[in-house]
Order: sequence, then C-alpha cells, then structure tokens
Amino acid sequence: MISLDDYIIQNFDNSTEDEAVFDIIKNISSGIIQVSEILLGNNNKNIFGDQGAKNIHGEDVQKLDIIATDIFVKELKKSESIKIIGCEELDELQFTDNNSNLSYTVMMDPLDGSSNIDVSISIGSIFGIWKHIPGDINSILLPGNKIELAIYSIYGPNTVLVFGYKSVVCMFILDHFNSKFVLYKDKIKLPDKPKYYSVNESNYSTWDKNIQEYINNIKSNLSLRYVGSLIADFHRNLLKGGVFLYPEDTIKNKSKLRLMYEANPLAYINKLCGGLSVSNGINTLDIIPENIHQSVPLIIGNASLIEQL
Ligand code: AHG
Ligand code: MN
Ligand code: MN
Repeated sequence: MISLDDYIIQNFDNSTEDEAVFDIIKNISSGIIQVSEILLGNNNKNIFGDQGAKNIHGEDVQKLDIIATDIFVKELKKSESIKIIGCEELDELQFTDNNSNLSYTVMMDPLDGSSNIDVSISIGSIFGIWKHIPGDINSILLPGNKIELAIYSIYGPNTVLVFGYKSVVCMFILDHFNSKFVLYKDKIKLPDKPKYYSVNESNYSTWDKNIQEYINNIKSNLSLRYVGSLIADFHRNLLKGGVFLYPEDTIKNKSKLRLMYEANPLAYINKLCGGLSVSNGINTLDIIPENIHQSVPLIIGNASLIEQL
C-alpha cells in the first residue's frame, strides 16, 4: 500500500515548486480528513441545515458550507506559499501573511453539492491552484490552462482524494482507521467507451436548440446518471466514461457552475485524463475570467462525446 506521502516522495523532485505543491496537498488533505470525520459524526457539531444566510450567488448557505470553509482556510494558511484564497462562500479574496518567494492563489468550492448534505448523498470539495506574481493583480484572474495543481475530494461511501499535477491524475482513498490516504489508482485516463450522460433534464426547455438536439442524439447510446453534486457526477464519469452538462439557461441568460472553483479545476483534471470541456463554444480552460465568482455553462467528459457537439 502506498500512502499519499510516499507517493509524493517517490514522484516529486526537490524543486522549490514541487516542495510547495507537496505542502499544499498535505494541508488540503488534512482539511479533507477533518471534514470527513465531521460527516462520520466523530464530532458533536450540528452539521445539517441552513446557516440562515445567502452567499454571493444568492443561494442559501448551509452550516456545512461554513464549517468546511473555516477548515480549509485555516489549513491553506499553513502553506507558506499560499498568498491568496478565493472561495465560493467568501465574497472577497483573502490575502494571507505568508511571505515566501513562491506565491500561489487557491480558488475553492469548500463544499460542493450542498443540496445533498442532509440526504446522505455524496458531496465533495474542489480546489484550483495557480501561480501568482506578487504585486500583479492580473495574475489572479488566470485561465484554467494556467492551473498548476487541481484537487478534489468526495465524501461518499468512502472518502476520495484526486489530484492532477504536471501530467498525471491519481486517486487516493482514506484509510479512516489510520487517518491516511492510500493510493487507489495512478495515471487515470478516461475509458475509450463512455457509458453515461449526466444532466438535469428538467431544465430541457431552457436550453439552446443545439444542446436539446445533442441530448436527443447521445441518449440512444448512453445511460443517464445524475447525482446533483457536480463533483460526484464528474468523478463517476471520469472513471466510467461519459459527459456531464450544465448548459446555460437561455431564458434567464444564466449559467449555474462557477468557472474558477468548479469548472476549471475539473476541466484541468479531465484534460490530463484525455478529455475535453467546452463553455460557450470554446475550450473552458481558455476562458479569461472576468471575476472570481463568474459562472459559465459546462460540458465536460470524453473528447469523442464533446466533439459531437
Ligand atoms: P454548490 O453546492 O457548491 O452550490 O454546487 C451545487 C451545484 C453542483 O454541485 C451541481 O452540479 C448543481 O449545483 C446541481 O444543480 P441542480 O440542482 O440545478 O441540478
Ligand atoms: Mn459547487
Ligand atoms: Mn459549494
């Protein structure tokens, strides 16, 4: 069995970058273990229900959204190289006091799938990490193709950590007994033959005609799976092959998923696994963000399926 620490020691070099990334992964993984323990009930926190506030997207904030935000902000600040933290639940960017020469920005969705918390369906956390040039404000709103590291977790039947760095995506499962992540799958690639399409089909009437036709066509060869937690839908399709869609609502002119801390980290991992993603007809990873909370349509999965669009 190869632990997360062993894996990194074996595969990373002694460069300052690799050491900083190692440290970031370690601190995020510690946050993931804490959230996972809270979900298992190994803590007296009341984790269910509304916090009684709305976030910048106008959505009801759940207690667990805040608990996870606090945990990850605290853990991320321990990484000397993290200078800036952007978060779904925080309107403004947080600047840390860290002063190492190397500087990174993290954009995070600390708790994805909020509507599934109190019904015991898989939820997760998503992180995108970019290098930042100190003093250069333009180096915060960077496209996904400039991501250095992407990580996500899933809190489900087991707790999973997946990260993509350099050219490799690997997956670890938490050994709760020893509070350690153990390697489950290395060098993940999307299967050649996709199985699933995942979309909230109740929104059909709000989609562009091209999307409607696309769904009508692909459904004859694929089976439908939709969890309603982006991260769980994405992860299943990554391992089994398929396409996930959250198209624009063309009636309200609105998209739901957030570019910097939902779409981009997953688009980056998906690309390393041989997949493709598009938003508004262009590669999701090429979009230059206008603000940290920007929303985009997202169609992501096997390249062969996306190319049919
Ligand atoms: P979050 O809980 O971080 O706000 O994200 C919820 C998102 C995403 O996880 C999921 O794919 C989508 O909302 C589900 O939306 P619908 O309920 O509209 O299908
Ligand atoms: Mn989310
Ligand atoms: Mn969230």
